Amino acid sequence: MSYYKVDNLEQYFKHYNKSIREPRKFWGKIAEENFTWYQPWDKVVEFDMTEADVQWFAGAKLNVTKNCIDRHLNKRGEKTAIIFEPNNPDEEALHITYNELHQRVCKMANVLREQGVKKGDRVCIYLPMIPELAVAILACARIGAIHSVVFAGFSSKALATRIIDSESKMVITSDGGFRGSKTIELKEIVDEALQKCPSVSTVLVVKRTNTAVNMKEGRDIWLQPLLDEASDNSVAEIMDAEDPLFILYTSGSTGNPKGMVHTTAGYMVFTAYTFKNVFSYEENDVHWCTADIGWITGHSYILYGPLLNGATTVIFEGVPSYPDHSRFWQVIEKHKVSQFYTAPTAIRALAKEKLEYVQKYQLNSLKVIGSVGEPINEEAWHWFNDHVGNKKCPVVDTWWQTETGGIMISPLAFITPTKPTYATFPLPGIQAVLMDDKRNEIEGNQVVGSLCIKFPWPGMARTIWNDHQRYKDTYFSQYPGKYFTGDGALRDEVGYYRITGRVDDVIIVSGHNLGTAPIEDAINEHPAVAESAVVGFPHDVKGNALYGYVILKETGEIRNKENLFIEINQHITDHVGPIAKLDKIQFVSGLPKTRSGKIMRRILRKIAEGNFTDYGDTSTLLNPEIIEEIQNEKK
Ligand code: PRX
Repeated sequence: MSYYKVDNLEQYFKHYNKSIREPRKFWGKIAEENFTWYQPWDKVVEFDMTEADVQWFAGAKLNVTKNCIDRHLNKRGEKTAIIFEPNNPDEEALHITYNELHQRVCKMANVLREQGVKKGDRVCIYLPMIPELAVAILACARIGAIHSVVFAGFSSKALATRIIDSESKMVITSDGGFRGSKTIELKEIVDEALQKCPSVSTVLVVKRTNTAVNMKEGRDIWLQPLLDEASDNSVAEIMDAEDPLFILYTSGSTGNPKGMVHTTAGYMVFTAYTFKNVFSYEENDVHWCTADIGWITGHSYILYGPLLNGATTVIFEGVPSYPDHSRFWQVIEKHKVSQFYTAPTAIRALAKEKLEYVQKYQLNSLKVIGSVGEPINEEAWHWFNDHVGNKKCPVVDTWWQTETGGIMISPLAFITPTKPTYATFPLPGIQAVLMDDKRNEIEGNQVVGSLCIKFPWPGMARTIWNDHQRYKDTYFSQYPGKYFTGDGALRDEVGYYRITGRVDDVIIVSGHNLGTAPIEDAINEHPAVAESAVVGFPHDVKGNALYGYVILKETGEIRNKENLFIEINQHITDHVGPIAKLDKIQFVSGLPKTRSGKIMRRILRKIAEGNFTDYGDTSTLLNPEIIEEIQNEKK
């Protein structure tokens, strides 16, 4: 029996049980039958979940781009691998075949090698959603360099932090990027970031917007002339299964962003397998995931998952509202998209617009529609199901994380009956459990707890770059022997999971995972600010928005509060990026703190929500009187 694809519900349970009883056989068979290896593994998995040491397919040798590209060339050489849909609908879409992708990746790989990039070096990629982004990533993978993609909406400071942490020696960027009616000056942001990044010796620049840019002598090089000269033949580096494939940063509840490290073989097996099953992918389907490649969703389900299955994947440069709110629907019709995978925040924003925007377009090419990034509320789920899926396409509400590498809990399209707001069952191979406060596993159904995974899976991150202790502390210490997700969940009467949200200080705004610490640091850098605390509160479109409580320095100076709000948001934009701006601000004289000095955020969250009851135990507070003051002054 093949375990790569589940065909019906009965088989789902069979595969699931097999994956728990004999995980090594289960994953071993999937890996053996569906990928190309230079050399097989010695052991399918070895692990110590207490030390957070996990290895999959150790001893195996492979190159992931051989699996994403080369092995398809015989059968699918002239098939479209990537459809590039530009920001401006009047600019022609580009269809890149597997043969052309192979040529482009080989040329780029040769350019990287000529520029001195070697196996194990880190390359930071800061590009808009253009084909060169995909090509640069795959070229790194071809030569064994570790790619570290930074979302091109991040500020120069956020970019610098990530370049410094990963010690990248090269940055690949562009003159600028188009986003709706705006042009973003990416090269300028890179120039500013690099003032603090001594590790970077080379910057390769893609021409996209034709914006005039500074080219620093000896460091910055236009990419195209190098590509023109490069050979389109490039031998793929032979990689070990556990060699790092990439670093991708994600926010933590405290401190710097965490550079999650994903390794070669396990990530490859897991993204390919989850893509095939969740979306029920069939040959000639056109897959469109609207995320940015700068997030894990883009890595796994725009690039690796689809290409590993020889699929056609869409890269969309623009935004859902440009030139108008029908853009998504227009693109689905134009490219006859079969699977459409997007985020609840986009669905909510588009559901607010006139229905004609969707109704004008033929969406009957769609087979499966999916959601990711945050809990999808019932209203958004129904709107998506009724108006986009036309009640005929299964809605796959997929739960997973940057750390998990791929989808963990989700309906399998056409197999698992869907239920609004429920991510339903874990995929075969994923041992999800709920834990109570006493660290015991909660058995049975109709229960609520903290979501953990009790057995390794191939796509899990292996460490945090340069900080294994932090990896261990963050994910493996609360529930010894288990991976703790940071999410709360409930399990209904049939065993379906519903993710209820974060149980830590991470806030999900428009599907972006934001830690409170860097935002508070940015606010505190404003000269008028003494201290601050940021919490999330429910928002119609964004899911959560940010509410900042700010204590001003007592300088005797009277400041215009509205101007201060604008200035503080500018600080956040500069330090973190515009996605982290506050929606509301409240100036306060103090913050509720425990005797050990920790801000009691759950109280601030309640006040921000306008819910002035059930503050819970406040006996450990040093200054309980502040609660009433903050509450009374809330606007
Ligand atoms: O809280 C969960 C939420 O997003 C978090 C992971 O964020 P990030 O690492 O940025 O990855 C997002 C894309 C995979 C999770 O801990 N989340 C993600 N998907 C869902 C979700 N919450 C509820 N339902 C989902 N389908």
